Amino acid sequence: MSFKHPSSLFPSLVMAFLLPLTLQAFQGDSMEIVSSGLHTGSVRRGCYQNVEQRRAYCSSRGLDSVLQNLAEDTNELDLSENNITVLPKFSFRRYPLITDLDLSANDIRVIEPTAFHPLKKLVNLSIIANRNLVLPVSGLFRWASKLTLLNLSGSNLKSLPNDTLKWNQHIDYLDLGFNHLTFINISTCGSVRYAGFAYNHIEQLTKETFTFGCQTDHLELGNNPIKLIDPIAIAALHTHSLILIYAGGHSWTPEMLRNLTIGISRSHIKSLKVDVNLGHFPQDVFTPLRDYSFTLLDFSYNKVNALFPFVFSNLTLLDQLDLSNNKIATIEPNFFDSMQALKVLNINFNQVRSINTGNHTWTINLIKLYLSTNSLTEISKFAFLGLQNLTLLDLSFNRRLASIYLTSFTGLDNIHTIDLSGCSIRYLQLYTPVLRSLYMKRNYLFGAPINPLEPGKSFKDSTNLVYLDIQESQVFPYNLWDPATNVSLFEGLFNLTTLDMSKNPNIGKFGLDLGIFHHLSALQELSLDACAISNLHPLVFTGLDSLQKLNLSGNNLEQIRIGLLTGLGQIRSIKLDGNILALLDERTFLNKSRLTSLSLANNKLTFLNESIFRPIYTSLSLVDFSQNPLICTCDLEWLLHWLNQNGTVRLANENQTLCAPSSLASLREKPLLHFNPSELCRFNYAIFSLIPIVIVSLVVLLALVYHQRWRLRYKLFLLKLAVIGYRGEAIDARDHNDYEFDVNIIFYDDDEEWIRDNLRPTLEVQLPQFQRNTFGDADLIPGMYYLDAVDYVVSRSYKTIILLSRAAVRDRWFMLKFRTAMNHVSDTQTEFVVVVFLEDIPDDEIPFLARLFLSDGRPYLHWTEDVRGQEYFWNELAKNLTINLRTNDLIPNE
Ligand SMILES: *[C@@H]1O[C@H](CO)[C@@H](O)[C@H](O)[C@H]1NC(C)=O
Ligand SMILES: *[C@@H]1O[C@H](CO)[C@@H](O)[C@H](O)[C@H]1NC(C)=O
Ligand SMILES: *[C@@H]1O[C@H](CO)[C@@H](O)[C@H](O)[C@H]1NC(C)=O
Ligand SMILES: *[C@@H]1O[C@H](CO)[C@@H](O)[C@H](O)[C@H]1NC(C)=O
Ligand SMILES: *[C@@H]1O[C@H](CO)[C@@H](O)[C@H](O)[C@H]1NC(C)=O
Ligand SMILES: *[C@@H]1O[C@H](CO)[C@@H](O)[C@H](O)[C@H]1NC(C)=O
Ligand SMILES: *[C@@H]1O[C@H](CO)[C@@H](O)[C@H](O)[C@H]1NC(C)=O
Ligand SMILES: *[C@@H]1O[C@H](CO)[C@@H](O)[C@H](O)[C@H]1NC(C)=O
Ligand SMILES: *[C@@H]1O[C@H](CO)[C@@H](O)[C@H](O)[C@H]1NC(C)=O
Repeated sequence: MSFKHPSSLFPSLVMAFLLPLTLQAFQGDSMEIVSSGLHTGSVRRGCYQNVEQRRAYCSSRGLDSVLQNLAEDTNELDLSENNITVLPKFSFRRYPLITDLDLSANDIRVIEPTAFHPLKKLVNLSIIANRNLVLPVSGLFRWASKLTLLNLSGSNLKSLPNDTLKWNQHIDYLDLGFNHLTFINISTCGSVRYAGFAYNHIEQLTKETFTFGCQTDHLELGNNPIKLIDPIAIAALHTHSLILIYAGGHSWTPEMLRNLTIGISRSHIKSLKVDVNLGHFPQDVFTPLRDYSFTLLDFSYNKVNALFPFVFSNLTLLDQLDLSNNKIATIEPNFFDSMQALKVLNINFNQVRSINTGNHTWTINLIKLYLSTNSLTEISKFAFLGLQNLTLLDLSFNRRLASIYLTSFTGLDNIHTIDLSGCSIRYLQLYTPVLRSLYMKRNYLFGAPINPLEPGKSFKDSTNLVYLDIQESQVFPYNLWDPATNVSLFEGLFNLTTLDMSKNPNIGKFGLDLGIFHHLSALQELSLDACAISNLHPLVFTGLDSLQKLNLSGNNLEQIRIGLLTGLGQIRSIKLDGNILALLDERTFLNKSRLTSLSLANNKLTFLNESIFRPIYTSLSLVDFSQNPLICTCDLEWLLHWLNQNGTVRLANENQTLCAPSSLASLREKPLLHFNPSELCRFNYAIFSLIPIVIVSLVVLLALVYHQRWRLRYKLFLLKLAVIGYRGEAIDARDHNDYEFDVNIIFYDDDEEWIRDNLRPTLEVQLPQFQRNTFGDADLIPGMYYLDAVDYVVSRSYKTIILLSRAAVRDRWFMLKFRTAMNHVSDTQTEFVVVVFLEDIPDDEIPFLARLFLSDGRPYLHWTEDVRGQEYFWNELAKNLTINLRTNDLIPNE
């Protein structure tokens, strides 16, 4: 309800007009500025002119008259917020091309009748908030035939010249609100889209006091203290819609209402809004409207608390009835009897507690029924009995609505849309064979899981569903899948295209059963965001052949299992943001050549492997990696090339896509896109150019050393031990008995054979005191998250051995374990990790992390097939395993 409080509304109205003006004035400052200089002694500053756009901004310049030294071809002139009191006849003679003139917030008291005559092109005129405005009696707009906007509101106008609109064809917007008008006499004029006379002092609507002959779309007469209505004056109006809102202080009498309807029945008015504090409908008030063809009767925002049988029965040709925002408590079919044409009934925002208590049959042909925000608790099978042609039923926000029985008996055979959002439905029966959209968002009671959905039952008579929204509704897995019968809630919904199940955390807590989605071959959009999902079976999306959008945001996914997305051949958009993904398998997006949008924002990704993204390289147009601890090294060179490519892919949230602290020094905490690989990764090429020289030198050296290699190394090792020993302060004081495990071995699955054949037997012989060892993933604590389990073992082991092989360093999970271990080295500053190279790994295959590790002089050993070499290896390993040195430098943290 907009116009009820004049006192509080007026200032805000004025502000609403003035604010844009003020802003406009400021805008002027940034434009091309041509000071027009001083004209009279009272001008403090000149105007800002934009010569190109032919605009002059003279707002708030302390002017007392219209400046005469502006460009003559000025189109727009803003003179608001000045001190103009008089507009002499020559004011605008110099500016015949003005189309937009703003004289708001001055104090104009006198306008000479010919002052506007030069303005033959005037289109928009605003004279708002001139508190003492007086217009000349006639001829003011004699030549302004193009005027389409005339706003004279808020100016305490006492009368409007009878010929104001005499000369123009079409006014789009005429606002005379907030004045002191007591009569309007405009008989000759063209058409008007909106005419506003709200908040004036019109007391009578008679031929003498209110004649408005314009062909009008909307005539607003709200908030006038009307006491008398002559049907003849109403009948003479040429408006499509009429708005009458009472002004407070006194209520309308039944006679006024009846005179109004009598007038309307003789007019062409098609739409009426009457908000006059009605408590009930006077008897016979609609009698005059019998068989009057009418589009909308709007009684919203009255105080109607009860209807009675046949109250509207003479509104035989009314199309839409709006009774929203009243105090109606009961709805019976016979209130609406005889309304043969009624299609739309709006009873939103009332206090309806019961519908059709007498179990009668509705006799009208409603198409849409709105009952949102009432006090309903139950919908019986009789409630809508007979509303055969109803297509839309809105029952949303009946907070206590618990049961709905729309049985085959009810006969809602044509219903397309039902809205049950914000209710607390515990029992649901839907015999609605052509139902397409069902909204059940936020269907819950605090504290009690109440969701009524039952697999195989809830939608068995609604198999044409296309759109289903059950978000935030305390959905449990048993609502979705019946393990006894292997039946899904969505069984048979072959036409469903949109399914929103987001914000149902119990789904993820207890897991999604396989087969839930198997029937949804038409589904295009599936939302499972914020469902606390930590694991998805690779086959759970099987059957979703048409899926285009998948939303898995805000879950607890640690990995995307291989095959999960395999069947989704039509997928266009995948949202995985807000999970805890640390790694992606390179097969994740295989066959996803239609994918255009992918969000991996806000995860734990440190590295992005090119091979993961290769399948979607050309299709993707938007990708989001923001808020991940990305380690920017030259390994990401491919990514920068991809992102900098022309036109194909755009990086979303680039300001939040930052390099982690462990990136190359110059990139730490900088936006990823600042990374210029051709600058930073150039030294590689320098190294390549040195390679021939290095190779020659090495070959010579190696040839010399090779023959004696193992003896040399062993001797060197013994020498070091003898001469240097271990400096006391560099040794970690803790014994391996202080740890839960003695040694923890991290290896890639394929290297298990080496452990079985070599490491285990040797450990048993050489270090019999090492009894509590963990070998790989098989010995991890069951029941923990994988990475947590790895972390747990590493941090509780005296020693950790990491076995590197070519296959191992290619495995991202393996490298993540490696990283976990190295982080602990850095955290504890203890050299408890021993790296063992099981084979030669070409430099370019060694990941950045491993290279970083080796370059810091950390302990590592190289396995060899040479028997003497192996002897050296085991001695060195045994020595390494029995002592923990302190580190003297740090591996960068994540
Ligand atoms: C308008 O004029 C009056 C007196 O003539 C003066 O007090 C007031 O400050 C002026 N307003 C502006 C905005 O210059
Ligand atoms: C304008 O209309 C009013 C009311 O009908 C009338 O009293 C007045 O004389 C008219 N003014 C002119 C200038 O015609
Ligand atoms: C209703 O209209 C009649 C003329 O038809 C008039 O005499 C009477 O005063 C009007 N009453 C009200 C309250 O407008
Ligand atoms: C409907 O109009 C008829 C006259 O056409 C009148 O007799 C009857 O009282 C009206 N009914 C109601 C409920 O207003
Ligand atoms: C209407 O039907 C309900 C059952 O749905 C029944 O309990 C109630 O008594 C019936 N009311 C009347 C007036 O027949
Ligand atoms: C439903 O609409 C059809 C066609 O418009 C009409 O023939 C039928 O009478 C309507 N049903 C009801 C109950 O009004
Ligand atoms: C699904 O839609 C098609 C065409 O839109 C329609 O023919 C079919 O009856 C609908 N219902 C089912 C259950 O397939
Ligand atoms: C990208 O395309 C625009 C025109 O489409 C071209 O001017 C620009 O040089 C291109 N940039 C690169 C890096 O290819
Ligand atoms: C991102 O940064 C650019 C340049 O620093 C800035 O212009 C832009 O407004 C920023 N965008 C957001 C969303 O912060």
